Amino acid sequence: MGKGLFKPVLMILILIFAAVATVQAGSPQPEDGKTGILLVTFGTTFSEAQAAFDNVETEIKAAFADTTIKWAYTSEMIRDKMAQQGKTALSPSQALEEMAEQGFTKIFVQSLHTIAGYEYHDLVKTVRMFEHNSGGVEKITITGPLLAAPEDMAKAARAIRETIPEERASNEAVVLLGHGTHHPSNAAYPALMWRLQRDDKNIFIGTVEGYPGPDVILEQLEKNNISTAWLMLFMSVAGDHARNDMAGDDKDSWKSVFEAAGIECKPVLKGFAEYDPFVDIWVSQLQTAMDQ
Ligand code: CO
Repeated sequence: MGKGLFKPVLMILILIFAAVATVQAGSPQPEDGKTGILLVTFGTTFSEAQAAFDNVETEIKAAFADTTIKWAYTSEMIRDKMAQQGKTALSPSQALEEMAEQGFTKIFVQSLHTIAGYEYHDLVKTVRMFEHNSGGVEKITITGPLLAAPEDMAKAARAIRETIPEERASNEAVVLLGHGTHHPSNAAYPALMWRLQRDDKNIFIGTVEGYPGPDVILEQLEKNNISTAWLMLFMSVAGDHARNDMAGDDKDSWKSVFEAAGIECKPVLKGFAEYDPFVDIWVSQLQTAMDQ
């Protein structure tokens, strides 16, 4: 080619190259952006209980509009059941690997557990392991559970008082059902009850699998001459424990045990994650992690 043509051809080549580069930059990026939130819960297979998770997702989306939200489930039993129902259900480590592959560089893991028991500590281990072998991920943090710091305890106590049905009279008891555990963090339940009872001696927190159980709570109800008790959940979703242990018709459900002692029961089948004042605690934990 003649010397006079060289410059225009070079220009055209540069333009073509620039155009190709622009198209590539505009092609679909990994999800939307590089920051992701991974919400981790035990999970539920009750479709009626899904309302709680839907509310969590709505609230967190509203607070962090530009961030992709993913879910993971700590219970293998729940993951298997969800898979049978044709739903995607990843374990925390599967979800983290997937997010790394998709190009997320900042991952905020939020535990949606209630207390820092076995499930939560396993999750911490998974996150720590991932921190050390995570390829392109620059930052990964874990926040939660609901009762993490002393200020979360205070907020949870306030949230409980705010969500007690207005129809409840002060001489009627409110019995909250926590899950409970053999892990030492079970102490969070009686600690929270102590806090609540400073303002309202008729609020109780019992647990299905830890201390105190229904027998201890019944003793306290009788001591306070309670004739009516509202049964509420201190679990994020109203699944099996709500429908069977709390309000079921079996003779060993809390409702049956209290009713057999002459106490009228008013069960409320709602997980606490259906109420915004509780979800706000998780939102503020995430916000603090993001601000750091
Ligand atoms: Co359970």
